[in-house]
Amino acid sequence: MEKFVISGGTPLKGEVTVSGAKNAVVAILPATILAEDVCRIENIPNISDVTAMINILNIMGAHVKYINKNTVEIDTRHINSYVVEHELSKQLRASYYLIGALLGRFSHAEVAMPGGCYLGVRPIDQHIKGFEALGAKVTMEENAMVNAQADRLLGNSIYLDVVSVGATINCMLAAVKARGLTVIENAAKEPHIVDLANFLNTMGADVRGAGTDVIKIRGVEKLHGCEYTIIPDQIEAGTYMVAAAATKGDVLIKNVIPKHLESISAKLIECGANVEEYDDSIRVSMDRRPGKCNIKTMPHPGFPTDMQPQFSVLLSIARGVSIVTESVWDNRFRYAEQLSRMGAVIRVNGKTAVIEGVEGLKGAPIRADDLRAGAAMMIAGFVASGVTEIEEIYHIERGYEDVVEKFRSIGAKIERREYPDGDDKIQLNVG
Ligand code: EPU
Repeated sequence: MEKFVISGGTPLKGEVTVSGAKNAVVAILPATILAEDVCRIENIPNISDVTAMINILNIMGAHVKYINKNTVEIDTRHINSYVVEHELSKQLRASYYLIGALLGRFSHAEVAMPGGCYLGVRPIDQHIKGFEALGAKVTMEENAMVNAQADRLLGNSIYLDVVSVGATINCMLAAVKARGLTVIENAAKEPHIVDLANFLNTMGADVRGAGTDVIKIRGVEKLHGCEYTIIPDQIEAGTYMVAAAATKGDVLIKNVIPKHLESISAKLIECGANVEEYDDSIRVSMDRRPGKCNIKTMPHPGFPTDMQPQFSVLLSIARGVSIVTESVWDNRFRYAEQLSRMGAVIRVNGKTAVIEGVEGLKGAPIRADDLRAGAAMMIAGFVASGVTEIEEIYHIERGYEDVVEKFRSIGAKIERREYPDGDDKIQLNVG
């Protein structure tokens, strides 16, 4: 078993560079299936969700060549299967994008229901609604296989009942080669939706309006290979911003799009942090105990749910009482129990958490419940006095490239340690 062992209490200082966006790349990799050609993609983060998706593409017959750690060439001409079994799809949530991409290419997809973080019920009814609007017949087979099939996909209007990132992306993937015009209304507006649209257009698609709540897609007969660079990861950047502020540090976060970070910057400023924006970097510093503030998660451009756990750590040491309302997921406060073990005072009632700020946190053995909860536990460890051990760190490595090395480069005292299974004794000698 691997754990992170953190010796906390040191302000994080220095410079760190953000990697490519996880939630963009996990949509863009399946989108290469639509090209039937070679795509060269740069700024790919080296994280386990990417490894899992590339493994699936390989098994399906794609030729994938790593040019270097962050650049791949994918040749999808030889993909000859539209089936993705549970053993593969369970490895990441984004495997459901294979449904849209395979449907777009073969007019047929059989993909087992995906895995991913447990954040409450994660239905895919809006994805299915979109596929059906385009003319596919969708059935749920044995072993939770989603079977989507059409004679010929035809453009149509799709009104999403809830703003869903996944459903918006899946509808885009299925529609780019459908005959005629598709209009997705009440579409999600996240930066990764815009990145996918740009990627599809670079392959010859005709997608307009991404980043607004109406996306119009005129189907094209054929797409071609291309070269593309993934945008920087908004949530990775936000995680370093909050870590800098929570530890009373001073960090320059490089390779970011400051516009994508506005909702996070605004809340940090409200808590008393200094935030300086440059063209493609952002500097966050804090010289006092944070002030309280309330946050409510919303689809983009609102405050991102994927930053809620990290920000709650900052609020756990703020002056006063803060209220955090989670309006995207039903169950995203599981980390509160772990944080309480470190001395935080959090009362969770359904989708609201009331956080009574304490002077400081104390190191403890804790667990990463999911990806962003895990990132939050790391920040808690950096803030706390004493030693924090975090278990189940594979969740964190799904979405943060070189997380130990990057945090060490800004002064964090963190080590990855391997323990024989069942050995719970920790040696407290983190340097
Ligand atoms: N929803 C439905 N029906 C659907 C789809 C979604 O009711 O068919 C509901 C969900 O239950 C949820 C809300 O709509 O309450 C939003 O879900 P959405 O579909 O937007 O989420 P997702 O596509 O499954 C992506 C990210 C998540 C991020 C959410 C919200 C990927 C691979 N995942 O999930 O990222 O929290 O959007 O922004 O892009 C993470 O990176 O840690 C992560 C969990």
